[in-house]
Order: sequence, then C-alpha cells, then structure tokens
Amino acid sequence: MREFLETIEEQLLRLSAEGNDTVALDDESVEILKRMASSIGNSGDRAGRMSRRAHEKKEENFVDDVEEVKFLSNADLSESIMNQNKEKGAQAGRVVVKRSFEGIAPIPNPTPFTLPDGDKVVRWNALRDIVLGDKVCAQHLKPGKKIVFGIGNLDAKIFFCGEAPGADEEIQGEPFVGKAGQLLTKIISAMGLSRSDVYIGNIMNWRPEVPKGNRPPTEEEMRYCLPYLKAQIEIVNPQIVVALGMTAVNGLLGPDPARRMGKIRGHWHSFEGRDLMITYHPSFLLQYASAAMKRLVWEDMMAVMERAGMAVSEKQRGYFLKSK
Ligand code: URA
Repeated sequence: MREFLETIEEQLLRLSAEGNDTVALDDESVEILKRMASSIGNSGDRAGRMSRRAHEKKEENFVDDVEEVKFLSNADLSESIMNQNKEKGAQAGRVVVKRSFEGIAPIPNPTPFTLPDGDKVVRWNALRDIVLGDKVCAQHLKPGKKIVFGIGNLDAKIFFCGEAPGADEEIQGEPFVGKAGQLLTKIISAMGLSRSDVYIGNIMNWRPEVPKGNRPPTEEEMRYCLPYLKAQIEIVNPQIVVALGMTAVNGLLGPDPARRMGKIRGHWHSFEGRDLMITYHPSFLLQYASAAMKRLVWEDMMAVMERAGMAVSEKQRGYFLKSK
C-alpha cells in the first residue's frame, strides 16, 4: 500500500506544483483511496504525514481529504473527463488525466524526418529547425509561446530528460528554466557540473495545455514528440540518460501502470542500449523537500557520476546525510 500511495503522492504533488487544480479519478479509484484513507488514520508513519501535509496545503488546492477527491474546478471539463474515463474503462487505482481536450487538434502520427549527413552540429541544427518548424507542435502553442527544444553540450556524457515545458519554458523556449529547472541546475552544480556540461531535453516539445495550469502529456502527445527526443539522444550520444520523474520514464520506456517510482529509481535501466538512471522529478522535490528525499535523488546522481567516471568527493558523499 505504501508504494501505491507514494506513486499517487508523487503524481498529485507534481500536478499541484505545476499549478493543476483538476484531477480525474474513476469511481473505483475513489473507493480505493477512501478505504486507504480510513486505514491511514493519524499514525506517525509516512502516509499519515502525507495526509496531514496535504491538509496543510489546502490553500494550494491540494487534495486535502480523500472525501474531497473530485473534480476541483471547471465543471464542464470534469464532466467530459468523467465520461471519457468511463468510456475507456479507466484502470482502478490510477490517477487518470484527461487525454484530449475539446478544441485542441488531434495528435497525428509522428512526422517523418531525415537529418542531413554531417557532424553533430550540422545534424543538431537541422533537427532543431525541423522541431521549431513542426506544424503539429506549433498548433498546440498558445499565442506568443514557443516550441521548446533541448539544449546543452552536444558531447555531454549525461543527458537529463524531463517531461514537458511549463509556463516559464514556453516563454523562453528553453527546457528547465522555471523553479524546477533552477533546482535541476543546483543538482547539476552539486555534481560539480554546469548546465553547459550536460544536455537537457524533454519528452515533449510543447507545453501540454489545459485551461489553467499544466498537466502531464498524454501517451499520444509523447508518442508524437518522442522521435525528436530520440534523435537528440542519438546526436549527442550520451553514455547516460537520466529520466526525471515517472512521465519521462513512461515516455522513454512506454507506459506501464505497474511501474512504481519507489522501485525503479536508483537502479540502472536501459534505453536503446544506453544506461538509464531513473530518479524523482525536481518539481516533486520542490514539493516534498525532506532531506531524506533529497538524499535519494542525490544517491541516484552519485551513481550517475560514478558510472560517468567522475570522482565523488567525501564532501559530496555526505550531502543530505544526517550529521553523526
Ligand atoms: N518540467 C519538465 O519536465 N521540463 C521542463 O522543461 C520544465 C519543467
């Protein structure tokens, strides 16, 4: 149950951190959550803390009581989500996020593209032009907002992969420049690197839009953008890809409802023959910023450093450990 709660907690905290106030749950999931809530009580365990913390976060539209798990705003949107989930037979226990929106163009198959022969710079520039000129990406932008393409060192050993641009990123046209991005930059600098030493990309090239806030991308959206991310990985040819958060994992590896962040993070996986490390998304850390949680991410980053052949100093080894 703990892992299940952790997964839900991560999703909700991240959605909340990104400004979402709408989460769709099928009836069965609500029943499961209600049963869990009654077994959590006021215990001092993590789940109990989570429930109390959620209560304290009421002002942020966080789900503060499972009795209140419902569509929090925009009645029309809610109704359409509910109908859609019923039609799709939403899976029990999954937080289900709306998969398509009225008035938004449907997602076609990925647009085929070829890159010119040439060195990394030639191919990367060509790819960038293709993505920035992609009509499907452009169709999903709000007026004045930008398609977001990856950035960084084309010879990077480490490729950080996030989920999708947020409000700041779609303004600047650069991945991870908002609050979560600033935290990612701090993590990178704790590793003794700078943003220009690594490469940073996202599964998505546009900000998945809702009337208000952000939402995780749909499978169709991720499928559309994935070839662009894969091409960036192929050009940069990093030794290690770091997937930040479950959505990045689902984008890279394909969705799997049985996946649990608590189980897969901190272990080596493989993406198209490359080492893949999975860790929590920085926006999750922003919301759940305990030293223990930071330590988990930091241990993942130390594993990345070691695999990349970087020295890890004694000082670095001690980050986020309680003083003895
Ligand atoms: N979160 C992401 O996953 N990517 C960004 O670029 C910004 C926030």
